Amino acid sequence: MNSENKIIDESKQGEAIMVETENLVSTSSTVKTKKLFLESYGCQMNFSDSEIVASILMNKGFTTTQNFEEADVIFVNTCAIREGAESKVRNRLNDFKRVKLKNPKALVGVLGCMAERLKTQFLEQEKLVDMVVGPDAYRDLPNLIEQAEDGHRAINVILSKEETYADLTPVRLGTNGVTAFISITRGCDNMCSFCVVPFTRGRERSRDPESIVNEAKDLFNNGYREVTLLGQNVDSYLWAGGGLSRRDPFGKKETLTEEQKANSVNFAQLMEKVAMINADLRVRFSTSHPKDMNDEVLYMMAKHNNICNNIHLPVQSGNSKVLEMMNRGYTREWYEERMKAIRKIIPNCGISTDIISGFCGETDEEHKDTLSLMEIVKYDYAYMFMYSERPKTLAERKYKDDVPEEIKKKRLQEIVDLQRKHSAIRTTEGVGKIHRVLIEGFSKKSDEMLMGRNEQNTVVVFPKQNHKKGDYVNVYADRCTPSTLIGEVV
Ligand code: SAH
Ligand code: SF4
Ligand code: F3S
Repeated sequence: MNSENKIIDESKQGEAIMVETENLVSTSSTVKTKKLFLESYGCQMNFSDSEIVASILMNKGFTTTQNFEEADVIFVNTCAIREGAESKVRNRLNDFKRVKLKNPKALVGVLGCMAERLKTQFLEQEKLVDMVVGPDAYRDLPNLIEQAEDGHRAINVILSKEETYADLTPVRLGTNGVTAFISITRGCDNMCSFCVVPFTRGRERSRDPESIVNEAKDLFNNGYREVTLLGQNVDSYLWAGGGLSRRDPFGKKETLTEEQKANSVNFAQLMEKVAMINADLRVRFSTSHPKDMNDEVLYMMAKHNNICNNIHLPVQSGNSKVLEMMNRGYTREWYEERMKAIRKIIPNCGISTDIISGFCGETDEEHKDTLSLMEIVKYDYAYMFMYSERPKTLAERKYKDDVPEEIKKKRLQEIVDLQRKHSAIRTTEGVGKIHRVLIEGFSKKSDEMLMGRNEQNTVVVFPKQNHKKGDYVNVYADRCTPSTLIGEVV
């Protein structure tokens, strides 16, 4: 999430990553140093997984490079959420293939959601790919690399019901040294009809709270001042001794034994444990699900000053019939009621969302319901997408992708235009107020200016003076652009 108002285009999300050597713990001395190039696409969870991959391989003696032409192993961590995300990866593979033609010993591996979705098909379709590795198989990477070095094409796409990589310390990649992400759940049990994630990431499982708290403590001791707890549906986090998932794919609650109940940790409780580490450690989380986000979570946010007043609550559509076809498990009325609860319990809460235009069968009237809901909520920020049919999903099997491309585009444009207006309104509301800002670094435009975010996640820019990264400052905003507040430290 960030507070720019734009359509997310996966083609811009690929990011070559350099590992900071100060994060290096230990490397095996027996193995000759090999160079790893790692590029990530998709959601934050994928970027977080890349930090696990880096950790596993650096412990095997790899160093990383930002130049794929000199790499011994090239890994691309992929996203399958929309067709566009996959095309981007296929184009990128062509660049990597050129390297292989020059240096036949270089290995190319595809990781993540697209690897999991296509499995062996990937090896058939992309002849120059040596390894295909799904998101639950990263511990097997050293072994798979060995197989590939021996001239075999290697694949492991086994999904797990238990793997959370809880015992591994991620190597922080591309970090600003102030903010970091911590995965708290993996997989998703929701089966929204448009979504490929349950197929690429498998069953939902929660990670041991102790390992989460320890990771956050380590980050704090290393100078980090903000952690974002990550999951596809953080509200369904539940630790009952063995990472039990709360429900089966169709919403039936699993019953815990009395003993498990007494010892269990839910999302609100987990958040509190992390917030109690230190008042100077900010806590954020993503993504909340409207059907599961309860008042207990909201009251916990209100109780702790360092839990940021900011919620990403994807609505997808403002029409109850469309929501039902999407299998989202809530109606427009339910969503509006949740909004009222947020506004009541946490006044001054930043709210962002995800919206899909042109889902199967969506009429003009139904699209207008999305616009009218946006008018009611006035989101601070939104990620907006045209519906893209994904193989194997419920929607692909049950419904026709029958909204013509031009209409999807036109509706998306209307959504984007309206959101742009609302983002500007929300940013303007911050003018004339004092904001507590955690400094993340220099502003993009000038080394004389610093940037950070307020609790609502809006970017705030101000003159550097004697302040530095990692400090908290109070900034009085006296003006703004549509997405950024500008002011001075008071
Ligand atoms: N777990 C999160 C969403 C993860 S995917 C949640 O439930 O809210 C991020 C966003 O991508 C979704 O919120 C949705 O808006 C969008 N998305 C997912 N599948 C899509 C598809 N097939 N076509 C277009 N957008 C899609
Ligand atoms: Fe996909 Fe729905 Fe799970 Fe989000 S909650 S990852 S949209 S299935
Ligand atoms: Fe993409 Fe997989 Fe995330 S499909 S959005 S990288 S969970």
